[in-house]
Amino acid sequence: MADDRAPAPRPRSVLPPVLHDQPIRARGRDLVRVADLDERGVAEVRTDDHGVLAVGIRPDGTPFAVGNTCRHQLAKLGRGRVTENGCLQCPWHRSEFDVTDGSMVSGPKGVIFGFPPYSAVVAAVGRAVPLTTAQVEIVDGVIRLAH
Ligand code: FES
Repeated sequence: MADDRAPAPRPRSVLPPVLHDQPIRARGRDLVRVADLDERGVAEVRTDDHGVLAVGIRPDGTPFAVGNTCRHQLAKLGRGRVTENGCLQCPWHRSEFDVTDGSMVSGPKGVIFGFPPYSAVVAAVGRAVPLTTAQVEIVDGVIRLAH
């Protein structure tokens, strides 16, 4: 029997990362099936009570849900990826976030925005104003809001 929760496969977006890319629609507290996450380990999920969240799973199997907007230049974090050390990396200038508390652990990278003093200031702001976090759990293979 087909699972009607499975999203249709879609091509990689060509939209700039400051825009949502067709977020998955949550069903009540059910956000996304773990099996539906691709190799990036995170997806955008539109919820009724929390707006669009970046929802994913760390390499150790821990699920997470955090605010979807980067503290640097507003890229959508659900379009990024989960790193080997379990951080959420922005899809634009690769700042990294600790998904347990929403803080930015490293600032933007690259020739322009990776300029060390600038990147350090952005990271300090990202620590002072962390992403929102929502408590989640995995129930029957689905990442679900805990309450
Ligand atoms: S928008 Fe996220 S690091 Fe620049």
